Amino acid sequence: MAFSPVFWLYSMLQWLLSKIFSPDPPAPGARLRRPRIAIIGAGLTGVSAASHCVGHGFDVVLFEAEGRDHLGGIWTDVNGTSGLQIHSIMYRFHPSITWEGGYPKQNQIVGQIEKLWKRYQLEDKTKFNTKVEKVYKDHQGRWIVNNPSEGRFDGIIAAVGTCGPPKMPHIPGQENFTGEIHHSSKLDKVDAKGKKVLIIGGGASAVEALEWAVDTDAAEIKVLSRSDKWIIPRNAFIDVLLAFNIFGQETLLSWIPETLLRLCFYRDLKDIAPADQGLFTETPMVNSEIFKQIRSGRAHWLRGDIEEVHENGIMFNKRAKKVPKGGPGHQVMVEGDIIIMATGYKRPSLSFLPDEVFEEPYGPPRWYLQVFPPSYPSICANNCTYVNAIGTVGNYHIGIYTRLLLMFLVDPLTTPKTWWMKRWIDMTSTLKSLAPTRAFDFFTYSELIYWFVFVTLINPFRWKWALFVFFGIGSQLPAKVVEQEDKLRNGLGYEKSYLD
Ligand SMILES: Cc1cc2nc3c(=O)[nH]c(=O)nc-3n(C[C@H](O)[C@H](O)[C@H](O)COP(=O)(O)OP(=O)(O)OC[C@H]3O[C@@H](n4cnc5c(N)ncnc54)[C@H](O)[C@@H]3O)c2cc1C
Ligand SMILES: NC(=O)c1ccc[n+]([C@@H]2O[C@H](COP(=O)([O-])OP(=O)(O)OC[C@H]3O[C@@H](n4cnc5c(N)ncnc54)[C@H](OP(=O)(O)O)[C@@H]3O)[C@@H](O)[C@H]2O)c1
Repeated sequence: MAFSPVFWLYSMLQWLLSKIFSPDPPAPGARLRRPRIAIIGAGLTGVSAASHCVGHGFDVVLFEAEGRDHLGGIWTDVNGTSGLQIHSIMYRFHPSITWEGGYPKQNQIVGQIEKLWKRYQLEDKTKFNTKVEKVYKDHQGRWIVNNPSEGRFDGIIAAVGTCGPPKMPHIPGQENFTGEIHHSSKLDKVDAKGKKVLIIGGGASAVEALEWAVDTDAAEIKVLSRSDKWIIPRNAFIDVLLAFNIFGQETLLSWIPETLLRLCFYRDLKDIAPADQGLFTETPMVNSEIFKQIRSGRAHWLRGDIEEVHENGIMFNKRAKKVPKGGPGHQVMVEGDIIIMATGYKRPSLSFLPDEVFEEPYGPPRWYLQVFPPSYPSICANNCTYVNAIGTVGNYHIGIYTRLLLMFLVDPLTTPKTWWMKRWIDMTSTLKSLAPTRAFDFFTYSELIYWFVFVTLINPFRWKWALFVFFGIGSQLPAKVVEQEDKLRNGLGYEKSYLD
């Protein structure tokens, strides 16, 4: 491979990040201390959270519903051609990750999750084929996962993700179709060469299916999308800039990026850009290639509703811009040989958690920092309650959330009280009351960072933990301080923390 200075710099940066921020794996056979954490789900969030816990000396058990071949979660269930749409610098789900390029593919992502799992010796701490059905407390307030045979836990990290099994809606008449029908995540063995491909859906998977169809030499590609979504360029600088909107909602200035995107990015394809929906309301797709394919005539993007599948294609109600779903349009027959359902994934259930956490008006995602249910600050639903965002799923925040939970468990003076957690949720809802979405249904990465800073500053007992929470640095020092505080508190008859 030719020497690339940019790649060399990127590799150096990753090496440096790993050196500074990766906690050391525990020594083989080391006794890990309490608090003991149960982590549910062995996708990248669960594996990363577990690595952080054991790296700081805390014991974990990782429960995964599927078998060993599912280590890596959703990434083990998608096409080999699937990959990151955002730059990998924004997908560093653990400081020790080393990417070999800007936009890694599925096998590299699974490989990195696997390496992390082995590096932190999580093999003996992972229980595969163990679906978590319920978590509940014993009379001492310790968590039990499924049944007492798995032991007792002080904290729970739910890391079940947002993409479960493929969603395959039944479309009227689809049994009459003479061609093939596949979900967008199951294309590895499909041959589209010389065929007419119809893609149902207008999300990130539709864009990925379009790219796959181009690469496999399909004769004609049509995306049938019933709603317009924003597409932003595949450019790390622009993507980070958009995530810099700290308000996490549409503002008086949102017309600026929206107009710039229409003028400079969509250009002649402005018709595809959403007309009545702001950029800061729904997760945008990140892609620059599809416009090239549409301009070259290789692919077509049609807005409208699927009416019925016929033996050789789909009867489609083509709608003009701004006409809502199901509104009046022009019926056309769109012919195809292969239908790809880019219709998304079912959301994994969190209903193994206690019923109280779902009680309105504080059901998910209206939780403290979006992940801690106000009734139980010892539960952290890491990366699995969000709806829409401009940001990234597999990044530094996984570690921050994990360390916040560790801080809450180790140091009772930092643990938020239910009443205050609810007040933070109410305050955030009020601040975002003018947003077109509900407050917690859309956020940006900088808003998330602001949340972390705010809740750390608001409680002086958390200050000593700040370096640990944000960077994983210096867990020993605050632990020593808590030990001293404990002695004092025990003398006064307060609850003990978990430092033993
Ligand atoms: C094709 C594709 C591309 C993507 N690209 C990007 C991208 O570029 N950028 C981005 O930010 N995000 C992207 N995503 C989103 C992606 O979901 C996240 O980035 C990330 O992989 C989620 O990891 P996770 O560990 O949170 O969840 P998952 O990988 O879904 O893992 C959850 C695990 O929990 C297990 N589980 C669920 N319920 C239970 C239970 N009750 N008991 C035990 N185990 C359970 C599941 O079996 C699974 O293994 C993409 C998603 C897809 C499908
Ligand atoms: N490389 C990547 O970055 C990448 C690739 C793939 C997926 N992902 C991530 O994975 C998650 C899922 O993405 P996704 O694109 O698979 O799903 P998605 O975002 O839920 O989009 C599904 C699309 O299918 C449409 N749809 C659903 N049911 C339909 C029906 N019965 N008839 C017609 N259209 C229907 C939806 O329309 P409506 O919107 O009108 O409901 C929507 O356009 C997202 O978080 C996404 O970011 C990322």
